[in-house]
Amino acid sequence: MVTGGQARTLKNIVSSGMKSSSLRVLAVSSGKGGVGKTNIVANLAYAFAKMNKRVLVVDADLGLNNIDILLGLAPKFHIGHVLSGEKSVEEIIVDGPAGIQLLPAGGGLQELTQLDGEKKVLLMEELDRVSSGYDFLIFDTGAGVSTNVTYFCSAAHEILLVATTEPTSLTDVYALIKILHTKHAQKHFRMIINSVASEREAQLILRNLMAVTDRFLPNVSIKYLGYVLSDPNVPKAVRQQKAFMELYPYSKVSQCVDQLAQKMAGEKRSGTDEEQRPLFWRTAFSVQ
Ligand SMILES: Nc1ncnc2c1ncn2[C@@H]1O[C@H](COP(=O)(O)OP(=O)(O)OP(=O)(O)O)[C@@H](O)[C@H]1O
Ligand SMILES: [Mg+2]
Repeated sequence: MVTGGQARTLKNIVSSGMKSSSLRVLAVSSGKGGVGKTNIVANLAYAFAKMNKRVLVVDADLGLNNIDILLGLAPKFHIGHVLSGEKSVEEIIVDGPAGIQLLPAGGGLQELTQLDGEKKVLLMEELDRVSSGYDFLIFDTGAGVSTNVTYFCSAAHEILLVATTEPTSLTDVYALIKILHTKHAQKHFRMIINSVASEREAQLILRNLMAVTDRFLPNVSIKYLGYVLSDPNVPKAVRQQKAFMELYPYSKVSQCVDQLAQKMAGEKRSGTDEEQRPLFWRTAFSVQ
């Protein structure tokens, strides 16, 4: 239900959201935790930035920030300061490597882990206001099926799901797809299979997942976006608090992320057809 106060906000969101037609909003999510979302977001953002794309990474794992730590940044302010009205989004955005910009989440703040409807609208309105300055907004969400996760996924144009070869990662991603489809009317998902030994292994995993979704969720479309090889350079870069694309640009894992970025950068945002992913601003209609 949209209340009177939220209706005014909605109007702004609708009008401004329609202005930035080149903007693509991506949500990167997973069923199980620790499958590599934050590393993929940081490095995908780095690859986009190297292609001269303007990228804002939103640490949407609210209350448990870690993309700032992964990139060796130490922001003073975070989304909590925006939601309390102390700061605007522009005031808390920090610069990362290669010109990436980051909106920090704020660690250890339990109140951010479950935002209420009003705060969600406020955050989306603020993001929408600054979004026209970017080619990509990338939400690095937490794992699982919390309301924050489903909210950020519903707000994005494209949902990129990360899974690994572990059976629990696949059962959990299936559970997330099911909830996003049945409770949030999402139909289109793109998969990245991380930490694989070969592309063949990634395709095999995906085929197994699709066999289950085709059978039990026939209206859901799952598309393969790509794979990321398992590589010891990833934990090495994590320990050095730098993107692996920056430290090891010629490693196999960096080439995988480059391929993902090139594939995505060559595409156009969809959005004219009702069957396509909902536009960014439409999330306001589903605020509860
Ligand atoms: N392709 C890879 N090869 C080797 N190690 C990897 C790879 N991807 C991720 N890792 C390792 O997995 C760990 C978890 O990665 P990351 O923090 O990106 O996961 P996450 O999905 O964001 O976790 P969370 O759900 O807690 O947010 C890291 O320590 C990282 O080094
Ligand atoms: Mg993470």
